[in-house]
Amino acid sequence: MPQIIDMRSDTVTRPSPEMRRAMYEAEVGDDVFGDDPTVIRLQEIVAELLGKEAALFVPSGSMANQVAMSCHTSPGDEVYLEAGSHVFNFEGGGAAQLSSVMFNIIEGFRGALTTDQVEARLRPGDHHFAPSRLIWIENSANRAGGTIFPQTEINKLEKLAREHGLGFHLDGARLWNVAAATGKSEAELAAPFDTINVCLSKGLGAPIGSLTVGSKEYIEEAHRYRKRFGGGMRQVGIIAAAGIYAVENNRNRLIEDHRRARRLAEAINELDAFSVDMEGVETNIVIFDTSPCGLLGPEVNERLRENGLWGTSFGGTRIRLVTHLDLDDDDIDRAIEVFRSCYN
Ligand SMILES: Cc1ncc(COP(=O)(O)O)c(C=O)c1O
Repeated sequence: MPQIIDMRSDTVTRPSPEMRRAMYEAEVGDDVFGDDPTVIRLQEIVAELLGKEAALFVPSGSMANQVAMSCHTSPGDEVYLEAGSHVFNFEGGGAAQLSSVMFNIIEGFRGALTTDQVEARLRPGDHHFAPSRLIWIENSANRAGGTIFPQTEINKLEKLAREHGLGFHLDGARLWNVAAATGKSEAELAAPFDTINVCLSKGLGAPIGSLTVGSKEYIEEAHRYRKRFGGGMRQVGIIAAAGIYAVENNRNRLIEDHRRARRLAEAINELDAFSVDMEGVETNIVIFDTSPCGLLGPEVNERLRENGLWGTSFGGTRIRLVTHLDLDDDDIDRAIEVFRSCYN
């Protein structure tokens, strides 16, 4: 069996010895009573980084999304979001069950929708229609290949949201990557939004954990939903310590992941068998298309897997590969070698 290069996701990383030490040494309390000092510190660090009043630690990005959705909406409300959104595709229909909202799904470009597209879908304030309530953005956009939402469009969408009294939420599971790629601070990127979710368990390499971030009032309400959804945890400072370590030590190195993703994408794109939208390779995700060789994604993915390169089939002819903390330049060399030996 060849050595495995696991590029299924940036969630597959294992905590480093230093991160484990931080976990071992963490001071803890009962976080449901609000007295775990390590969780409190993590929440303060992340709220300050994003330039918002408060943050709440939750077990997963999906729970952060479901909590935010419930806080922003009432049953029957309408939410505007892009067709590739994680909350629409990959959260088990959670928003339908937990928030009972209507999704107004917009096909965007590289994961980004435009202000004109949203404006055209807004409902008149008439009782025939679902109340327009929330604009939901994802940045970077996972399913589109880690693409970055244009900031000018975000600013226009904010204006639209304000004019129509809509909430404006960012699923920033990989906001850290956007900050690293653009040179903008997390606070700058978060500024237009009412609420933002970030994940510690993706590019930053923590084993578990996400935060939802916003005003104090929002976090008060988020607390209730976290409890309702079963996400209140006790001596969870052990996990929060890994998060603090991740935020303090693993943000600056994300540009390495981006550089490696780019190198891999270029090598794949050089093969006749595949194509890559190179302009869409902006962060740590590479999506390649298997159509040029006439094979479907699952077949190609299986062949790569048999040769030690693990990716994720993204339906049809698309395969996703993700760079992360546990891969180095040699791993990328080996991944390129697998491609060349199988498909040159
Ligand atoms: C954009 C985005 N949002 C939310 C999530 C959900 O995170 P989790 O897997 O921690 O539930 C993911 C997971 O990959 C994601 O890519």
